[in-house]
Amino acid sequence: MNLPRFPIFRPRRMRSTEGLRKLVRETTLSLDQLIMPYFLTEGAGIKEEIQSMPGQFRFSIDRFLSELEELEELSVQHILLFGIPNSKDLKASGAYDSNGVIQRAVREIKKRFPKLTVITDVCLCEYMSHGHCGVVEGQKIENDKTLSLLAETALSHAEAGADMVAPSDMMDGRIGTIRKALDGRGFSELPILSYAAKYASSFYAPFRDAAHSTPEFGDRKTYQMDPANIKEALREIELDLAEGADLIMIKPALPYLDVISKAKEKFNIPLAAFNVSGEYTMVKAAHAMGYIDEQKTVYEILTSIRRAGANVILTYHTKEVAYWVKTAHEGQNLFSHLI
Ligand code: PBG
Ligand code: ZN
Repeated sequence: MNLPRFPIFRPRRMRSTEGLRKLVRETTLSLDQLIMPYFLTEGAGIKEEIQSMPGQFRFSIDRFLSELEELEELSVQHILLFGIPNSKDLKASGAYDSNGVIQRAVREIKKRFPKLTVITDVCLCEYMSHGHCGVVEGQKIENDKTLSLLAETALSHAEAGADMVAPSDMMDGRIGTIRKALDGRGFSELPILSYAAKYASSFYAPFRDAAHSTPEFGDRKTYQMDPANIKEALREIELDLAEGADLIMIKPALPYLDVISKAKEKFNIPLAAFNVSGEYTMVKAAHAMGYIDEQKTVYEILTSIRRAGANVILTYHTKEVAYWVKTAHEGQNLFSHLI
């Protein structure tokens, strides 16, 4: 097609008022598609700020229930839970203990907030004394020995009442193993959100501080992906889909927008992207220094992740976005058109 050129075509005409800009806006944001991650800890009466993640807290279950009242008020509809156990060991016992912090939390939450979507992160690193996502023998992370523990963990979350389980370990074959375990115990309708393309990223550093899950030796490069690769990410996604993943996640989000975009093109399925702890912290730090405007930056970042092809965004900004939506006066706030 031969598109008209200047001066017949002037792209600025359709940018001249906010009304016209809205009319041709290609990407929208909605609270319907934002998931707020949380860290839950043992004990009672705890709400402590995470030093490397300003504005984020570790909650004990009792204090978390009041947080959920605030979320309800703000119309946040989906949460993802990470557990921080009191004691860790070499078989991640806390991960699949029916009285573990996540299992107890999910039971309490579903009783009080039945409509809230409760997604649980399924991994072993927070529960392993060495901080790795799998069973360690010598210095090696043993793939196949890890699978049954992951399946046990997912099952215990399902039994507690989770609405979706989200394996984040990056072991080969975990989606198939978890799917089979769930199906075998009457949970064939419980969906799996797979951290399918999870990169070995420096952007997880604040999370590891929050969850006390920094590996004791080595790094996660033998299981998480090399940031240099995109074809491999597509292959990982394909494998997880074949094994029964219902929703596919790419993580982190901002440095991997090309991966989101390619995955969208190739598979044309709903995608999730995790705007991770380090991405959050960069915004908070730059804002605290007065270098950027937080609200505008968050709007632009989330819009960009959606534009790249993500339907769902997991982001620590969710609660604040919801607050901005709630307190927006017509036209005064970038988030005022979100409902
Ligand atoms: C645990 C897990 C991690 C994140 C989600 N699940 C950390 C890691 O792999 O080291 C990162 C989330 C974030 O940085 O916000 N496997
Ligand atoms: Zn892990």
